[in-house]
Amino acid sequence: MDLKAQINLEKLPQHIAVIMDGNGRWAKQHGKIRIFGHRNGVKAVRETTEAAAELGVKYLTLYAFSTENWARPASEVNALMTLLVGTIRKELKTLMDNNIRLKAIGDISKLPSKCFKELNEAIEITKNNQRMTLVLALNYSARWEILEAAKTLAAKAKDGEVDPEKIDVDVFESALSTKDYPDPELLIRTSGETRISNFLLWQIAYAELYFTPLLWPDFRKEHLYKAIIDFQNRERRFGKTSEQLT
Ligand code: IPE
Ligand code: IPE
Ligand code: MG
Repeated sequence: MDLKAQINLEKLPQHIAVIMDGNGRWAKQHGKIRIFGHRNGVKAVRETTEAAAELGVKYLTLYAFSTENWARPASEVNALMTLLVGTIRKELKTLMDNNIRLKAIGDISKLPSKCFKELNEAIEITKNNQRMTLVLALNYSARWEILEAAKTLAAKAKDGEVDPEKIDVDVFESALSTKDYPDPELLIRTSGETRISNFLLWQIAYAELYFTPLLWPDFRKEHLYKAIIDFQNRERRFGKTSEQLT
């Protein structure tokens, strides 16, 4: 059964977001320390990115590090940051070869300076690539993002640049870090957890949620295909009745 052939390319989600979860449990299953799981998660990142780009998905957002993840043991946080620097450096050529633009959302200025620098360099180098945009959510949380937007708009209102009465969905979205990207239509979370963990709360208002028990390091192209096929078999009603859609 060729999963890829079952995908309707006319009905592809433009934007897919992924909560990459389960690295620690994967490592435990293999009798290794948690960072071993993170290292093995890189292959899943590569496969998912490649598969999405090959299909023609325009935006892929990956939740890589939440603001809450700083609460993990310092050794794990440090190892994750080191892995991030190494991965960006190693994968830059692949991004260029595949015409993929790298972007980030989250308070990246608070990342260790080495990460911040490496990330910004890769963003700059890939900025004219057009096939797909890969957005890394790093030191990201949705509540942080929504608060930042509220602060920005409040300051503008105070300065008379924005009329508070005119703040609608579009104005609010223009203050979010995702302002240049469409909302994700499909949100995938691995590892069997069925929660959002402070990810894209505003943007997923009408996303289709897809949960799989698979642990992130085991996620491969065919698993992305499966999620997309599942997505394509759903009826997205946006408040209407089923009859109204036909
Ligand atoms: C996801 O895997 C990666 C990050 C949050 C950085 P976890 O590290 O959360 O793995 P589990 O959930 O403990 O298995
Ligand atoms: C969500 O995973 C964050 C990332 C995948 C980066 P967590 O493993 O941190 O989520 P919780 O704590 O189980 O909700
Ligand atoms: Mg987790």
